[in-house]
Amino acid sequence: MDKIKITGGNRLNGKIQVSGAKNAALPLMAASLLTDDTLKLSNVPYLADIVTMANLLAQHGVDISFSSSSQQYGKNMSLRADNIHNFTAPYELVRTMRASVLVLGALLARFGQAKVSLPGGCAIGTRPIDLHLKALEQMGAHIELAEGYVHAHTHGRLKGADITFEKVSVGATENILMAASLADGVTILRNAAREPEVCDLAHCLQKMGAQIEGIGTDTIRITGVKKLSGCDHSVISDRIEAGSFAAAVAITGGEVELLGARAEHMQAVIEKFTEAGISISETERGIKITSDGKIECIDIITQPYPGFPTDMQAQMMALLCVADGASMITETIFENRYMHVPELARMGAKIVVHGASAMIRSADELVGAEVMATDLRASLSLVIAALAAKGETIIHRVYHLDRGYERLEEKLSACGAQIERMHDKPNRPFSMPEAA
Ligand code: UD1
Repeated sequence: MDKIKITGGNRLNGKIQVSGAKNAALPLMAASLLTDDTLKLSNVPYLADIVTMANLLAQHGVDISFSSSSQQYGKNMSLRADNIHNFTAPYELVRTMRASVLVLGALLARFGQAKVSLPGGCAIGTRPIDLHLKALEQMGAHIELAEGYVHAHTHGRLKGADITFEKVSVGATENILMAASLADGVTILRNAAREPEVCDLAHCLQKMGAQIEGIGTDTIRITGVKKLSGCDHSVISDRIEAGSFAAAVAITGGEVELLGARAEHMQAVIEKFTEAGISISETERGIKITSDGKIECIDIITQPYPGFPTDMQAQMMALLCVADGASMITETIFENRYMHVPELARMGAKIVVHGASAMIRSADELVGAEVMATDLRASLSLVIAALAAKGETIIHRVYHLDRGYERLEEKLSACGAQIERMHDKPNRPFSMPEAA
């Protein structure tokens, strides 16, 4: 397994191109199942999760090709689902990537059947899919759970329904948005997620011929159509990647322009950086972060969009470890999203967790150590802490990082970070020590 070595202390200066959003690209890829025409996506980040989704769709029968784009990062992708012969999303793929459950709504709406493995727990919590299933049942789907799988089928088309989600769920909103686009009649989604990635999916579905109103609000109205077509669509830029780089610059000090970052998708995050004394301004091509490395303490509560994103919680915690005074973070979305705390503590962070809240007291300095990435965003918090830490940090299990950050070392080292990937040597076969 690869590791990452970071020697802290360098300021970051320069420009970084922000990649396309993983969490927008994954549902967009699943949307290819809704039509037998070609869906062409551009600005798709080239990441492990994207390859997993491509493998999942390919085993359903989607014909997929990647091609290089004229941009520095990302790929163009062409997906054609005119020969779907398998309706099962197997455990091996779903367990490695929860977004696999996004094929459920599309398969069911177009083919009347789907068998999708239950995702099970993951490092950040139990993360059930009950809201997805309840909504599909309201649309007339028959759903059974057996042997770890969701078995779903419908007689005829799914029917439009008036659905109120008990909780705001990104995945459930996306799954039902896709299903409702091909359903018979009108579906209304209340308490729907408003994340930019949900809007990006809705805009692509509109280009494919779907009739959707209320995009970006918590009430979405979809009038189902009989057939959808292909289209060309460019994936929005990754607001979480942009926020992660902003936190890196904030902690090291320096000035970096994030090309392609969209300030309008990052308001809650920008507000918190500003409160912490970091200057963020909009430029013609993105946003610019300027920091002298001094950070004020702040309090953060994670919330569904437009609130502060749970996917930025770990990165902000790393930043607040060296803030002037004590900060409080409260995580309201996932119940177990503080796995990075003991790892940050190995670097000298002073953090106490009580239930859903964490108190972060100022550490005079962070010191490099060997640490372990536990999930995608947690791994970035370790990178951010390491960039400011004294000495050398080795981060293990960086495959988590590869799921969501495109060529991170290259982007950071171009701005002056000392960061390198170390490829592990294969284990040597066991041998007995020679007798003296
Ligand atoms: C998506 C993102 C993930 C991000 C999260 C929150 C993708 C592929 N994943 O995850 O990176 O961290 O949004 O922004 O875009 N819940 C239920 N029942 C359900 C569904 C969800 O109880 O059926 C709960 C979850 O446990 C959680 C909350 O609702 O407490 C929000 O989850 P949700 O928005 O669905 O997150 P994901 O779509 O899994």
